[in-house]
Amino acid sequence: MVSKDNKVVVVGAGLMGTGIAHAFASSGFVIDLVDTSETALEKARIAIESIIDGGVERGKISSTDAQSAKQNLSVSTNLGQSANGATLLVETVSENLAIKQAVIREADAVMADDAVIATNTSALSVTEIATAASAPENVIGMHFFNPVHKMKLVELVLGLATNEATIAATRQWCNALGKTSILVNETPGLTTSRMSAMLGNEAMWMLQEGTASAEDIDTALRMGFNHPMGPLELGDLTGWDTRLAVLRYLHSMLGEKFRPCPLIIKMVAAGRYGRKTGHGVYKYDENGKQILGSGLKGSAL
Ligand SMILES: NC(=O)c1ccc[n+]([C@@H]2O[C@H](COP(=O)([O-])OP(=O)(O)OC[C@H]3O[C@@H](n4cnc5c(N)ncnc54)[C@H](O)[C@@H]3O)[C@@H](O)[C@H]2O)c1
Repeated sequence: MVSKDNKVVVVGAGLMGTGIAHAFASSGFVIDLVDTSETALEKARIAIESIIDGGVERGKISSTDAQSAKQNLSVSTNLGQSANGATLLVETVSENLAIKQAVIREADAVMADDAVIATNTSALSVTEIATAASAPENVIGMHFFNPVHKMKLVELVLGLATNEATIAATRQWCNALGKTSILVNETPGLTTSRMSAMLGNEAMWMLQEGTASAEDIDTALRMGFNHPMGPLELGDLTGWDTRLAVLRYLHSMLGEKFRPCPLIIKMVAAGRYGRKTGHGVYKYDENGKQILGSGLKGSAL
């Protein structure tokens, strides 16, 4: 049974670790945030305090709760010490199998036998990551979304060995954080990345074929389906270079339906990655603001 007395450790104080640590601390859990970099830890602490202070300003939490949320967080560079006696460890270090397995191997040696080890990997195999643990059945994917304090979804990813007790405990952790969890068998792209890649690719095929202008394709999804962003705007935000890499991976794993649209390949070759290069499907000014009427029109070839 998940309780506020359980010790939680989040390893990796980057973009995601910061958000995940904030989620636990502000939900009343005493948590250790661990990283090898003192700078990353300091940056994370400042960012977490700023999200908490923002919540107070907007009247979302009281200043007393904000104070205890800040007190719930400790930062450390000593994984062994932090993991000792922990009942849940969420690893969210860099997306590299060897690094993730090394973290799990070290933590596993000092954690309780029935402790849950969760990985926030986006694309690596949970089954393979789990081979670093003495009990792979206690390992599960806990895929959070950025920004964590705004996004409600957590995809729970089942490795080959993940057992029912681990699933049940992780579901409880998600509930305690106010998140909605879904269960996904380990598969390329899970549910979200796979769906999003398909939608972005199809939008590009439509643009290439001259079905409609970029603005109208995006408006169709925003107004017709209540999507907060159109698929082309979203591709510009994610970066078409990243999108292309994901599509190529899904194409190799899942077949023809994920063949990347030639227009994406052409845009990436031209360095038109999206917001980060100031030009993707749309153009952006130096402040990252979209320049109106700058989208590709109809047949873009
Ligand atoms: N960025 C996203 O939108 C997103 C979304 C979901 C999942 N993810 C996944 O979350 C994980 C982290 O992504 P991120 O964007 O936060 O990366 P990031 O680069 O911002 O942070 C990674 C952190 O891990 C630390 N680190 C590296 N090796 C370590 C070690 N041995 N011990 C302790 N700390 C170590 C680094 O110092 C760094 O602070 C990745 O697996 C990524 O695929 C990312």
